[in-house]
Amino acid sequence: MKEIKRYKSNKNSLISKEDLFDIIFNNIYVGIDIIDNRGNMIYYNKAMEELEGLSAEEVLGNFVFDVFPSFNYENSTMFKCIETGKPIYDNIQSYLNNKGEQIYAMVTNIPIVKDGEVEGVVEFALDMDTIGNLYKTFNRWYSLKDTVFKKEKEKKGVDFYNLQDFKTKNIELKRTIERLEDVSKYDYNVLLFGETGTGKEILAQSIHNASYRKNKPFIAQNCAAIPENLLESIFFGTVKGSFTGAENKPGLFELADGGTIFLDELNSLPIHPQAKLLRAIEEGYVRRVGGQEDIKVDVRVIASVNKEPLNLVYEKKLREDLFYRISQIYIEIPPLRTRKEDILYLSGHFIKENSEFLDMKPIKLSSKVEDIFMNYPWMGNVRELKNVVIQSMINLKLEDGNEIEVRHIPKHIINENKKRKMKKILKYNEDKNYEERIIEVEKKLISEALYMTDGNVSEAARLLKIKRQTLQYKIKKYEIENVE
Ligand SMILES: Nc1ncnc2c1ncn2[C@@H]1O[C@H](COP(=O)(O)OP(=O)(O)OP(=O)(O)O)[C@@H](O)[C@H]1O
Ligand SMILES: [Mg+2]
Repeated sequence: MKEIKRYKSNKNSLISKEDLFDIIFNNIYVGIDIIDNRGNMIYYNKAMEELEGLSAEEVLGNFVFDVFPSFNYENSTMFKCIETGKPIYDNIQSYLNNKGEQIYAMVTNIPIVKDGEVEGVVEFALDMDTIGNLYKTFNRWYSLKDTVFKKEKEKKGVDFYNLQDFKTKNIELKRTIERLEDVSKYDYNVLLFGETGTGKEILAQSIHNASYRKNKPFIAQNCAAIPENLLESIFFGTVKGSFTGAENKPGLFELADGGTIFLDELNSLPIHPQAKLLRAIEEGYVRRVGGQEDIKVDVRVIASVNKEPLNLVYEKKLREDLFYRISQIYIEIPPLRTRKEDILYLSGHFIKENSEFLDMKPIKLSSKVEDIFMNYPWMGNVRELKNVVIQSMINLKLEDGNEIEVRHIPKHIINENKKRKMKKILKYNEDKNYEERIIEVEKKLISEALYMTDGNVSEAARLLKIKRQTLQYKIKKYEIENVE
């Protein structure tokens, strides 16, 4: 990208770049911190103090994982950024500070590169709760997105989801849902296995809501978000004085008494504490950290894993006895790319769900978009599909159209699709001679140009910098299908 000069100082001005830096960074609503390439925290602005509940004094000069114990070299996007030298945008993170407080933020990491070396990382963070409010002050696009976000948020209310909210055309999954209507009522523990975004949270909430426990608490805890040294206190509670700063506090099991506890991403729980968890589940008693008495708890357990559970057992990441205990009902949700029948079905569902809300006429996907969707791998599964559909609808709304076309969908989806097509072509080329391969490349250039111009031959010729007649001739000669 071309460097653009964005700052021009006036020779007579007393304002230094540093003054500007301070004024801007301390008054901006975006949290900003900077670490050097060894992970030491070297900058921390006011908004970040508010967002993370810490002060610059407590933070500066410390190693980042000492301040945020739920991060490590594996899950820290800041270190990923140091490692790859590439920016990471808008990553939604939920993590803990060293006081055990939960932070929920949208984070962007930009590497500071000098002479080809990564010297550090600047992090921009927005509190998820304030994001909605911020958008309001921006332009129309943002305000639309905000409305959608808000609606999504409302849905996150605990008793929102029911089994009917899990939409699918996949026969086996449909059967699973039907079976759940019945077995949810009983007190069996449930293990859900599915990649990210496949709907584990929907099912967990729905199972709770279909049971006699539905008016009692549903406590969801992401196991990946708890630092190991706080695990026991969070699950089982603490007794005042048992360690410095300890208060009389119930753990999640006590809080969930009579209801359901959802142990999300159970496989990120270290193997050792799994034994204590098993005991609590088996015996129905917990003992607070530092406490003397056993407290009876009546809790149904639903757990989720995002890797094949038997492999986890085999790799000793999930205790076998715990696995058997919690998988009295075992549900596997296959990734979206393996249940193609759901891709367009769910797209239609999300369009319908949001069009009234966005005050839009009936909308459909163009056949090109359908084709792209069907071939895209959807690594973020239904969540990704839903976001892409909503995003495309917002882009379409700005034009007041009624068909989602290629230009409305996020660019990375199109690129991924092109890459796949390219791979197919290259493979196809392997047993061709040089001339035939040149023709393939020519065909590809032409198809791409037609694709980009929605089949407009004149425009495509301009893009390719050849005469319209030449292009017309080649389209005919190579029998290129013009998808007008
Ligand atoms: N079958 C489905 N029908 C309708 N909506 C779905 C379906 N599956 C997923 N979703 C939607 O996709 C989003 C992600 O679902 P959910 O949070 O339940 O996934 P998850 O498996 O818990 O993901 P993660 O592992 O990342 O926590 C939600 O907005 C949910 O409403
Ligand atoms: Mg989830």
